[in-house]
Amino acid sequence: MIVAANFKTNKTRTQTREYMDEVNRFIHLEKIRCEVIVFPPLTALDSFMGEVTLGVQNAYAVEKGAFTGEVGTEQLDEFGIQTILIGHSERRHVLGESQEEIAHKFNYFKELGYKIVYCVGEKVETREAGQEALMAYINAQLVGIDLEYSNLVIAYEPVWAIGTGLVPSNEDIRSIHADLRAKSSRPLLYGGSVKLGNMDEIVSIENVDGVLVGGASLYAQSFCQMIKIAEDKI
Ligand code: PGA
Repeated sequence: MIVAANFKTNKTRTQTREYMDEVNRFIHLEKIRCEVIVFPPLTALDSFMGEVTLGVQNAYAVEKGAFTGEVGTEQLDEFGIQTILIGHSERRHVLGESQEEIAHKFNYFKELGYKIVYCVGEKVETREAGQEALMAYINAQLVGIDLEYSNLVIAYEPVWAIGTGLVPSNEDIRSIHADLRAKSSRPLLYGGSVKLGNMDEIVSIENVDGVLVGGASLYAQSFCQMIKIAEDKI
């Protein structure tokens, strides 16, 4: 099981340090075997002791250079970061990243051996158009992506479920994960309004190998309880 926290544009460096200390302590005390990944904002990246894998929410496909406002791998290397989130719906739909740009980024970080948590997910109108339209949409988000890359994790996150409190039915998650499983043997995460109250149900669904959590990951204590629920499914 993989339990990942995406802080988005939340938390300061100090708050992130306290959070990492608490989660690392929990993992150590409870002898957690699940893989726990935390994606803090860029300003909170640091070298943290412990078992949590530190990832970056975004980076530019470059080592270093003249790319104002971006970070490259030289900056990530300083903190030993080898994990990146690519294709998140906010980067696709709010920040306007095209599939071509996303695939370029994927291939750059793949060449460097990064663990890539690669996100796909449909908007509500596509969901309403039925399963065929939905899978066609998701397939378009997989163009240019090596689905058997050994360090790939795929996260299915319906756009309409992110930060809304809405979650697809268990059957809908099961059926999309089954379709994704037919395309890739890599771990499949579900994301979108995962919280303590629905964690157990979601990680019990077939082909759900973990979760990517936004809002509900911001409280270390409840995130730790979510990790424990995933741990009990191993
Ligand atoms: P949410 O976000 O848990 O707040 O819905 C999930 C995500 O965007 O990864």
